[in-house]
Amino acid sequence: MSIVDELRALQAEAVAALGSVSDLGTLEDVRIAFLGKKGSLTAVLRGLGSLPPEERPAVGKVSNEVRVALEEAIESRRGELAGAALADRFVAEAIDVTLPGRHRLPGKQHLISQTLDDIVQVFLGLGYKIGEGPEVELDYYNFTALNHPPEHPARAATDTFYVRDLSGDHAAVDGESDVLLRTHTSPVQVHVMERQQPPIYVLAPGRVYRRDVADPSHLPQFTQIEGLVVDEGITFGDLKGTLEHFVREIFGPKRRVRLRPHFFPFTEPSAEVDISCGMCGGSGCRSCSGEGWIEVLGSGMVDPNVFGYVGIDPERYSGFAFGVGAERVAALKYGIPDLRLFVDGDMRFLRQF
Ligand code: PHE
Repeated sequence: MSIVDELRALQAEAVAALGSVSDLGTLEDVRIAFLGKKGSLTAVLRGLGSLPPEERPAVGKVSNEVRVALEEAIESRRGELAGAALADRFVAEAIDVTLPGRHRLPGKQHLISQTLDDIVQVFLGLGYKIGEGPEVELDYYNFTALNHPPEHPARAATDTFYVRDLSGDHAAVDGESDVLLRTHTSPVQVHVMERQQPPIYVLAPGRVYRRDVADPSHLPQFTQIEGLVVDEGITFGDLKGTLEHFVREIFGPKRRVRLRPHFFPFTEPSAEVDISCGMCGGSGCRSCSGEGWIEVLGSGMVDPNVFGYVGIDPERYSGFAFGVGAERVAALKYGIPDLRLFVDGDMRFLRQF
C-alpha cells in the first residue's frame, strides 16, 4: 500500500472512530490515538524522512490535509458532545416550577378591629384624641363617679364580673370586691377628666365585660367606643350633629338618626340613638321588626354630678358623651345575625371581610 493510501485509510478509520465516540473523555482518547506523539498519523509522518526526495512534497501535502481534516472533525465532534452534555445537564438539573406550591393565607384584621379603626378615623378627623383606661377597674370609676347609687342593679354580682384583689389595697364593699372588669368604657370619661381640664375631645375604644351568657345578641366580652366632649357652651345640638356625622360616615349618607329619651345615671338628659333601617329605609320590615329604626348607641349630656367627682366647674363647662358597641355596628353594617360569629374564629366567616 502506498503511503498516500495508508494516510487515506487512517483518515477513514479516524472518522469512523469519531462517529462512535459518545463522550468527551473517549473523544480525547481518539485524538491521542491518531494525533498524539505516539499516534498513528504521527507515526506515518515520521516515515516521510525515508521517502525519495521527489515524492516528499506530494505526500507531505496529503498528510497535511489529513491532519487538518482530522483536527476539524475532532473539534466539530467536541462541539456536538459538549452541546449534548449541556442539554443533558439542563434536563437533569431542571426544577419543576409547575407544582401548585404551598399556599399561605395572608393575615388580615378581624372585622371588629377594622370597625374600630373606621370609627376612630371618623373622630380623629374631627380633632378628637384617643383616651385610655384599665380593663380591670375600680368600682369607683365604673359606677360611683359615674353617679350610680350604691343599690344600682348593674353593681350586682349577677351582672358584673368582680375580681378578687389579692394585694389587699382595695377593701371589699359590702362583702363584694371593689375591683371588677369594667362593664362599659364610660369609666375612661372619669380618668380623662381627672387628668385634664376642658376643652376635652376624646374617643376611648376598648374591651368591656358583662356577666351575660353568649347568645345571638349578647357576648360576655365585647368592644365599646366611648366619646366625651367637654367645653364651654356644648349643647345637645352638638351631640346630635356629631352623632349624625358619625352615622353617615360609618353607615352611608342615606341613614337618618333618631334620638329617644332614655336614662343613664351619668348623663342628663340621656338619649338612645336609633338609625333608620338599612333594609327598608325606615318604612318597617322584618329586619327592623317593623319599626323602621334600629338602636345603635347610648348618649347624653354629662351629668353635673359627674363633673363634681372630677372637679370640673359645671357652671362654666358642659359636655356630652356617647358609647357605641363595635360588634353591634359591624353586625348592622354587614347584616350579621349572630354576634357569636365574631368570637368563634371560624375562618369561613372571617375571610369574608
Ligand atoms: N355606657 C353606656 C352603656 O354601656 C353607654 C353610654 C355612654 C351612655 C355614654 C351615655 C353616655 O350602655
